Amino acid sequence: MKRIVILISGRGSNMEAIMRAAAAEHWPSQIAAVISNKPTAAGLEVARAAGIPVAIVNHRDYPDREQFDAALASVIDQYRPDLVVLAGFMRILTEGFVNHFAGRLINIHPSLLPSFTGLDTHRRAIDAGVKFHGATVHFVTAELDHGPIVAQAVVPVHDDDDENTLAARVLEQEHLIYPRAVRDLLEGRLVLKNGRVISAEVR
Ligand code: GRF
Repeated sequence: MKRIVILISGRGSNMEAIMRAAAAEHWPSQIAAVISNKPTAAGLEVARAAGIPVAIVNHRDYPDREQFDAALASVIDQYRPDLVVLAGFMRILTEGFVNHFAGRLINIHPSLLPSFTGLDTHRRAIDAGVKFHGATVHFVTAELDHGPIVAQAVVPVHDDDDENTLAARVLEQEHLIYPRAVRDLLEGRLVLKNGRVISAEVR
């Protein structure tokens, strides 16, 4: 049984999509824990209701980023994860944390990376006039919203979109690609090689 730890800060809809896929598809993996830096994250209730162990490591309880990240890493380590999945986890992570989990830490970002790193991706995509937008699952490296790309989904940008309609179209795709990416990595169909993620078949 491979072990997954999911980190959230808010509503946790990507977490929920992964929970649902794992149950519906009978993954040979388990969600060992859901951890939040915010005690009020709505996703915690969803995880609790599903019987998944939850933990809170509140960043406000630590004087700096290094000490928060060290505490978070030690809680994560207790669950011995094969994969640490950031799902709307709104904290910038230190290099030490990222290195500790190198090769088993992934994130989903609501844009077609390397375009639109950072926040407000949907509004910025509309302002830029791009005709296609989307979401990216990537390995986390010390550079924010960079790192080897695991999966992407593309959606059209319509002339009458606002950031809410575009966000909803992207989120629907996030819920499809994130569970699939997690499963493909855990089951070895996708592998990290020379800084790129490729199909194990062409290895
Ligand atoms: C998603 O749009 C994700 O791409 C971004 O934060 C949002 C999290 O949503 N990183 P949720 O908490 O999974 O519903």
